[in-house]
Amino acid sequence: MPKIPQNVRGARFTGWGTSLGHNTVTNEDLTKTMDTNDEWIKERTGIHRRHIGGSTAELSIASGSAALQMSGVDPLSIDALILATTTPDRCVPATSATVQNALGLRCGAFDINAACSGFVYSLVNAHGLIAMGAERVLLIGTDTLARITDWTDRNTAILFADGSGAAVLESTTGSGHLLGWDLDADGSAEEILFAERGGYIQMDGKEVFRRAVRIMVDSATKSMNAAGVTADQISVIVPHQANIRIIKAACERLGIPLERSSVVIHETGNTSSASIPLALFGDFGQVKPKQGDLVLLVGFGAGMTAASAILEWGAQ
Ligand code: COA
Repeated sequence: MPKIPQNVRGARFTGWGTSLGHNTVTNEDLTKTMDTNDEWIKERTGIHRRHIGGSTAELSIASGSAALQMSGVDPLSIDALILATTTPDRCVPATSATVQNALGLRCGAFDINAACSGFVYSLVNAHGLIAMGAERVLLIGTDTLARITDWTDRNTAILFADGSGAAVLESTTGSGHLLGWDLDADGSAEEILFAERGGYIQMDGKEVFRRAVRIMVDSATKSMNAAGVTADQISVIVPHQANIRIIKAACERLGIPLERSSVVIHETGNTSSASIPLALFGDFGQVKPKQGDLVLLVGFGAGMTAASAILEWGAQ
């Protein structure tokens, strides 16, 4: 569990934006192509509707340009673009290349694939770049899981969707907002959640569920220890939005009341790399951090990966 060295240059968010897949698909819509029902999906997953459609580049350009606009920075002053995605538009080049050009950036650009932990992986990497002298990094988490979902498979199609969330991270004179972090992976669990090249997502839902709660709690605990904070000090937890029952179980084990959890899954479904930024920056009536709040971001995903970070909201 690495600790952030003292006097390292910090960073904070100065702008953000989100976008969703172009078409809304309700649970009722799904009953036309598979044997399922609205009540089961709501009760077993917490999902009421999801949004699908658009390419990874399109959704990233929409959220990225909103983040740039809010921060007010000149696109030419961005030093790096990191795009977290499991669903790049092409094998080669990275989708970040397409997005970099469309947003008018002139900087290094690369994709990170850490599945649903991707945004937190990118956030930690972006802080590393800022510690090494970068002034501004544009972070985007986008997935278009609809393209790798079999829309006749009720095991997976009820869960997955498309979306994007982006943030501009700028260097600060002080220590910045990141107080602790953890990145984790267990490649021995690869077979419980995967998609072959050109194929659809295959998933052992029960096993993913079982491990998800454990690794979220484990990663979150490591981050809190690294930051020197305890669960009762966390004002807002922003968990990966995979299943409301996973969120409830993880909150319970961490000792964080569910009311402090950002929940947007009813509106978004599971959007993988976009899930945490949508829950943090989107506008779905969820709980949001205020100046000075301690925020816990925690994700898990295929790999199986896990990642978490403690942020002091609005820190200079
Ligand atoms: N609609 C209606 N009924 C369904 C259904 C569906 N989509 N899927 C399963 N069922 C039925 C089953 O046939 C079973 O019926 P039975 O009791 O008569 O045999 C019952 O509902 C329970 O099925 P089960 O597979 O035990 O459901 P579950 O409670 O484990 O929920 C998941 C399934 C996939 C929603 C759940 O396991 C899950 O969310 N897992 C984690 C997946 C995840 O997060 N993946 C992404 C990670 S990033």
